[in-house]
Amino acid sequence: MNAFLFSSKTLAYVAVAVLSLAASSCARVTLAWADLKPDGDTAAPPVLESFSGDSAVNEAAVWRDSRTPLLRDAFERHVHGVMPDASSTQVLEKRVLDDAAFGNRGRLEEWTLSATAVFNDVAVETRETMDRGGFLVQVVTPINTPGPAPVILMETFCPSWDVIPHAAVSRPDDANSMSGGVFGAVATYVFGRYICTPPIEEILDRGYAIASIYPGAVIADNRGRGMAELRRLSAGHADDETRWGAVAAWGWLFSRVVDAIEKDERFDEDGFVVWGHSRYGKAALVAAAFDPRIDGVISHQSGTGGASLNRNKPGESVRSMTQTYPHWFSRAYAAAAGEEHTMPVDQHQLLALIAPRPVLLGNARRDVWSDPNGAFRAAMGADAAYELLGSQGLEQDRLNVWRPDADLAFWIRAGTHGVVKEDWPAFLEFLDAHFKTGAASPALVGG
Ligand code: GCU
Repeated sequence: MNAFLFSSKTLAYVAVAVLSLAASSCARVTLAWADLKPDGDTAAPPVLESFSGDSAVNEAAVWRDSRTPLLRDAFERHVHGVMPDASSTQVLEKRVLDDAAFGNRGRLEEWTLSATAVFNDVAVETRETMDRGGFLVQVVTPINTPGPAPVILMETFCPSWDVIPHAAVSRPDDANSMSGGVFGAVATYVFGRYICTPPIEEILDRGYAIASIYPGAVIADNRGRGMAELRRLSAGHADDETRWGAVAAWGWLFSRVVDAIEKDERFDEDGFVVWGHSRYGKAALVAAAFDPRIDGVISHQSGTGGASLNRNKPGESVRSMTQTYPHWFSRAYAAAAGEEHTMPVDQHQLLALIAPRPVLLGNARRDVWSDPNGAFRAAMGADAAYELLGSQGLEQDRLNVWRPDADLAFWIRAGTHGVVKEDWPAFLEFLDAHFKTGAASPALVGG
């Protein structure tokens, strides 16, 4: 009887899980596996070759001073849309919610920020359309480890009260939870233990702070409201073809949080690491490529428009993504669908713009929709820029050789799209290898 109950319950979960996967369009279930050897075209064009009229680069100073501005400009015009000419961030309020939170490990604060984007001298502030007069950032600081703490800046799908599960975090009276109840159980079953809530206690024990925002509160992940807000903020930019998309704006939001935390001495200014999964993994790469103050990136399953190459790609095509999510990228990128080989840039050059800063690309073998093999080949293509800048770059010739200490680190596990129990231990290993200060025991979490 018990065995029957167990198996029917499991079956029910699997049925709901598969249905919700199909409905969510957050992942595609296939029987395919990503090949563990680089398979297909190598990245083109080579990152150090002549580009947009300039000659091949063989000096670090030339790369920094003349190649990176050209590449950023090309990504703005052909992929993400144009970024603001100038930006600023206003800290409207800082509230301490609990100075001994998470088992006396961390101090929890909530900050209210507002940001201004300037395009062609037209300045527009985010808060003009926000109920609360600004957007919230939950900041958790470790209290048991010495020195300024490296910070993991997170953007997530889940509302803040699920990401930072503490009763004092602001939430509307009618707020739904994505991590509780049946919905939460199914979401966790399908997308993994850490899809909403990271292992906060372990993160604090290892000496890292967290600054978490819900980007959908500023730019809704929705073609109607999202596009309207993108257009409002970029009112001074006349060209619809190159107007910024949500991925660029979510990347820009990471930088607005950096504006606020870099003024606070509790945080290590050499340890600002952006973290994002999937669409926010795409945004995390943009943030680091455009903002040199960002010191590291964990971009998990970022896929198309993220770390995976556009050319000859399996999994999600540029056409499919830009049709389903027209608010994510510029119209120019959508127009290049089917003609990706003619684009002057590909995604390995976005990774190269982050060099020599540490990047972790997280992947799963059955998540072929996000094309792990294409992300690996992009890392291979970016490697020359890392080496030019004196970094070891990519230290593996197959997808499954885990080198968390490499500056271009590539992580792949079994399974599908999500943030599962094996992922955060890998993220923390990478963080410890590159950003650890006086942290406590490096024992792995999860398991
Ligand atoms: C969809 C989309 C991907 C995206 C993912 C996510 O699957 O096609 O491009 O990365 O959602 O954000 O979860």
